Amino acid sequence: MNANTDFKTAETAVRDLYYAVHKGLRLANARMLVALGQSDPADDGEVGAVLGKLAHHLDICLYHLKHENARIHAVVDARVPGASDHADEDHEHHLASFIELRQLAAAVSAATVDRRAAAMRRLYQRFALFVAEDLQHMHEEETRLMPLIAQHFSAAEIDGIEHAIVTSITPEVMVPFMRVMLGAANRSERIATVTGLKAGMPPEVFGQMAAALVHPQWRHDDWDEMERVLC
Ligand SMILES: [Fe+2]
Repeated sequence: MNANTDFKTAETAVRDLYYAVHKGLRLANARMLVALGQSDPADDGEVGAVLGKLAHHLDICLYHLKHENARIHAVVDARVPGASDHADEDHEHHLASFIELRQLAAAVSAATVDRRAAAMRRLYQRFALFVAEDLQHMHEEETRLMPLIAQHFSAAEIDGIEHAIVTSITPEVMVPFMRVMLGAANRSERIATVTGLKAGMPPEVFGQMAAALVHPQWRHDDWDEMERVLC
């Protein structure tokens, strides 16, 4: 993995396919880690809630991984054979991590109350390792793979890849991704994203999405309220 801080994030006109979604995943990973650490093993309700949250989080991570494989890495490999091999190897490790994390979560569920604290600690520690792997992995995709993509694909082609990604995501999947992406964004990015969504959708569709992302009473431009709910 590349842990160098040789940041080459896109400061040019070329779109960065990873930037916004990876910021969202970093936020979601951090929140998940904290939630696991703060859950009281003696409290059935808290344990059930955090395990449900973890199952949902792993679903999101798996969806993202599959999407990157199908929509980015496959396209890049077709033009630059082997370019995404390292990222794909990391994805294989992630898949193994997801299986192990689900097994550890099932062990927490099945544990008697007196053994639950130990099972929770194992789950918390393993999830922390997954986050460490994922942070390294996302950094590598952003600083090694994305510049390679920018080198071999035109800006219009990169826009096309992004368009293919966005249009293949159902609203049910888009909402949880947008929640963490908007939550992790800075205010300028948040305003640009929401304004772009509003401009690109029929008003009723945007209204439904805004209601799902924030709440049905949210009105466009109320950024303080959006941040209160999402950040
Ligand atoms: Fe990835």
